[in-house]
Amino acid sequence: MALRTILEFPDPRLRTRAEPVTRFDAALGTLIDDMLETMYAAPGIGLAATQVDVHKRLIVIDISKEHNEPLVLVNPEILSREGEASTEEGCLSVPGIFDEVKRAATIRVRAQDRDGTTFERDFDEVLAVCIQHEMDHLEGRLFVDYLSDLKRERIRKKLDKERKERAARTVAASAGARRAY
Ligand code: NI
Repeated sequence: MALRTILEFPDPRLRTRAEPVTRFDAALGTLIDDMLETMYAAPGIGLAATQVDVHKRLIVIDISKEHNEPLVLVNPEILSREGEASTEEGCLSVPGIFDEVKRAATIRVRAQDRDGTTFERDFDEVLAVCIQHEMDHLEGRLFVDYLSDLKRERIRKKLDKERKERAARTVAASAGARRAY
Protein backbone atom coordinates (compact mmCIF):
# COMPACT_ATOMS: atom_id res chain seq x y z
CA MET A 1 0.00 0.00 0.00
CA ALA A 2 1.11 3.54 -0.58
CA LEU A 3 0.00 7.00 0.34
CA ARG A 4 -1.26 9.06 -2.58
CA THR A 5 -1.00 12.84 -2.84
CA ILE A 6 -4.30 14.65 -2.25
CA LEU A 7 -5.01 17.46 -4.71
CA GLU A 8 -6.00 20.76 -3.15
CA PHE A 9 -8.45 23.48 -4.21
CA PRO A 10 -8.18 25.30 -6.62
CA ASP A 11 -6.25 22.61 -8.54
CA PRO A 12 -8.06 22.34 -11.91
CA ARG A 13 -7.70 18.53 -11.87
CA LEU A 14 -10.34 18.49 -9.10
CA ARG A 15 -12.79 19.73 -11.77
CA THR A 16 -12.47 16.56 -13.88
CA ARG A 17 -15.58 14.41 -14.33
CA ALA A 18 -14.70 10.81 -13.43
CA GLU A 19 -15.27 7.87 -15.81
CA PRO A 20 -17.00 4.63 -14.82
CA VAL A 21 -14.86 1.79 -13.46
CA THR A 22 -15.03 -1.11 -15.92
CA ARG A 23 -12.20 -3.39 -14.74
CA PHE A 24 -12.41 -5.03 -11.33
CA ASP A 25 -8.82 -6.20 -11.25
CA ALA A 26 -5.76 -6.16 -8.97
CA ALA A 27 -4.97 -2.56 -9.96
CA LEU A 28 -8.40 -1.47 -8.70
CA GLY A 29 -7.78 -3.34 -5.43
CA THR A 30 -4.46 -1.54 -5.00
CA LEU A 31 -6.08 1.82 -5.72
CA ILE A 32 -8.82 1.13 -3.14
CA ASP A 33 -6.27 0.09 -0.49
CA ASP A 34 -4.10 3.14 -1.24
CA MET A 35 -7.13 5.44 -0.99
CA LEU A 36 -8.16 3.96 2.37
CA GLU A 37 -4.61 4.32 3.72
CA THR A 38 -4.40 7.89 2.42
CA MET A 39 -7.78 8.76 3.95
CA TYR A 40 -6.88 7.25 7.36
CA ALA A 41 -3.49 8.99 7.39
CA ALA A 42 -4.90 12.40 6.44
CA PRO A 43 -7.00 11.87 8.67
CA GLY A 44 -10.40 11.99 6.98
CA ILE A 45 -13.68 10.06 6.81
CA GLY A 46 -14.09 10.02 3.04
CA LEU A 47 -12.03 10.22 -0.14
CA ALA A 48 -12.96 10.22 -3.83
CA ALA A 49 -10.53 8.90 -6.47
CA THR A 50 -10.68 12.37 -8.08
CA GLN A 51 -8.86 13.76 -5.04
CA VAL A 52 -5.84 11.52 -5.69
CA ASP A 53 -5.91 12.44 -9.41
CA VAL A 54 -7.48 9.19 -10.59
CA HIS A 55 -10.57 10.05 -12.58
CA LYS A 56 -12.59 6.91 -11.96
CA ARG A 57 -15.98 6.63 -10.23
CA LEU A 58 -14.81 5.31 -6.90
CA ILE A 59 -15.17 6.58 -3.33
CA VAL A 60 -14.08 5.23 0.04
CA ILE A 61 -15.57 6.15 3.40
CA ASP A 62 -15.03 5.12 7.02
CA ILE A 63 -16.72 7.04 9.82
CA SER A 64 -15.70 4.58 12.58
CA LYS A 65 -13.20 5.69 15.22
CA GLU A 66 -11.35 2.38 14.95
CA HIS A 67 -10.96 2.57 11.14
CA ASN A 68 -12.53 -0.85 10.83
CA GLU A 69 -15.70 -0.13 8.83
CA PRO A 70 -14.43 0.77 5.38
CA LEU A 71 -17.15 1.39 2.83
CA VAL A 72 -16.14 1.14 -0.82
CA LEU A 73 -18.54 2.46 -3.45
CA VAL A 74 -17.66 1.85 -7.09
CA ASN A 75 -19.81 3.52 -9.77
CA PRO A 76 -22.24 4.84 -7.12
CA GLU A 77 -25.66 6.22 -8.15
CA ILE A 78 -28.24 7.91 -5.97
CA LEU A 79 -31.60 6.24 -6.65
CA SER A 80 -33.68 8.46 -4.36
CA ARG A 81 -33.32 11.30 -1.89
CA GLU A 82 -35.48 12.34 1.05
CA GLY A 83 -35.54 15.27 3.43
CA GLU A 84 -32.95 17.95 3.94
CA ALA A 85 -30.06 18.25 6.36
CA SER A 86 -27.63 21.10 6.88
CA THR A 87 -24.26 19.89 8.11
CA GLU A 88 -20.89 21.50 8.69
CA GLU A 89 -18.63 19.90 6.10
CA GLY A 90 -14.92 19.83 5.58
CA CYS A 91 -12.83 18.39 2.75
CA LEU A 92 -9.31 16.96 2.54
CA SER A 93 -8.89 19.00 -0.67
CA VAL A 94 -9.84 22.23 1.12
CA PRO A 95 -7.79 21.82 4.32
CA GLY A 96 -8.85 23.62 7.47
CA ILE A 97 -12.11 25.01 6.02
CA PHE A 98 -15.51 24.02 7.39
CA ASP A 99 -18.93 25.35 6.41
CA GLU A 100 -22.60 24.45 6.36
CA VAL A 101 -23.97 22.69 3.29
CA LYS A 102 -27.54 21.55 2.64
CA ARG A 103 -27.95 17.98 1.37
CA ALA A 104 -30.61 15.30 1.26
CA ALA A 105 -31.02 13.73 4.71
CA THR A 106 -31.57 10.18 3.47
CA ILE A 107 -30.45 8.56 0.23
CA ARG A 108 -30.79 5.20 -1.45
CA VAL A 109 -27.64 4.24 -3.30
CA ARG A 110 -26.79 1.60 -5.86
CA ALA A 111 -23.09 0.82 -6.22
CA GLN A 112 -20.62 -1.97 -6.83
CA ASP A 113 -18.13 -3.32 -4.31
CA ARG A 114 -14.45 -3.95 -4.99
CA ASP A 115 -15.30 -7.25 -6.70
CA GLY A 116 -17.90 -5.68 -8.98
CA THR A 117 -20.94 -7.04 -7.11
CA THR A 118 -23.87 -4.61 -7.27
CA PHE A 119 -25.72 -3.70 -4.08
CA GLU A 120 -28.37 -1.22 -2.94
CA ARG A 121 -28.44 0.36 0.49
CA ASP A 122 -30.10 3.24 2.37
CA PHE A 123 -27.93 5.77 4.14
CA ASP A 124 -28.72 8.58 6.58
CA GLU A 125 -26.94 11.02 8.89
CA VAL A 126 -23.18 11.39 8.41
CA LEU A 127 -22.90 8.59 5.86
CA ALA A 128 -25.58 10.14 3.65
CA VAL A 129 -23.84 13.53 3.78
CA CYS A 130 -20.43 12.02 3.20
CA ILE A 131 -21.56 9.97 0.19
CA GLN A 132 -23.17 13.04 -1.42
CA HIS A 133 -19.99 15.06 -0.76
CA GLU A 134 -17.74 12.35 -2.26
CA MET A 135 -20.05 11.82 -5.25
CA ASP A 136 -19.81 15.55 -5.97
CA HIS A 137 -16.02 15.08 -6.31
CA LEU A 138 -16.67 12.56 -9.09
CA GLU A 139 -18.54 15.31 -10.96
CA GLY A 140 -15.71 17.80 -10.40
CA ARG A 141 -17.69 19.62 -7.74
CA LEU A 142 -16.44 20.79 -4.33
CA PHE A 143 -18.39 21.72 -1.20
CA VAL A 144 -17.07 25.30 -1.49
CA ASP A 145 -19.07 25.59 -4.73
CA TYR A 146 -22.20 25.79 -2.55
CA LEU A 147 -20.83 28.85 -0.71
CA SER A 148 -20.95 32.43 -1.97
CA ASP A 149 -18.40 33.59 -4.58
CA LEU A 150 -16.97 35.95 -1.98
CA LYS A 151 -16.46 33.19 0.59
CA ARG A 152 -14.92 30.87 -2.00
CA GLU A 153 -12.49 33.56 -3.13
CA ARG A 154 -11.47 34.22 0.49
CA ILE A 155 -10.86 30.48 0.99
CA ARG A 156 -8.76 30.32 -2.20
CA LYS A 157 -6.59 33.23 -1.02
CA LYS A 158 -6.20 31.78 2.47
CA LEU A 159 -5.09 28.38 1.10
CA ASP A 160 -2.70 30.06 -1.40
CA LYS A 161 -1.10 32.02 1.43
CA GLU A 162 -0.75 28.89 3.60
CA ARG A 163 0.82 26.94 0.71
CA LYS A 164 3.37 29.74 0.14
CA GLU A 165 4.23 29.82 3.84
CA ARG A 166 4.63 26.03 3.86
CA ALA A 167 6.89 26.15 0.79
CA ALA A 168 9.05 28.88 2.39
CA ARG A 169 9.43 26.77 5.55
CA THR A 170 10.44 23.72 3.46
CA VAL A 171 13.13 25.75 1.64
CA ALA A 172 14.44 27.06 4.98
CA ALA A 173 14.48 23.54 6.44
CA SER A 174 16.34 22.04 3.48
CA ALA A 175 18.87 24.91 3.55
CA GLY A 176 19.45 24.03 7.20
CA ALA A 177 19.83 20.34 6.34
CA ARG A 178 22.51 21.12 3.74
CA ARG A 179 24.67 22.75 6.42
CA ALA A 180 24.15 20.09 9.04
CA TYR A 181 26.59 17.34 8.03
NI1 NI B 1 -13.98 16.33 -0.12
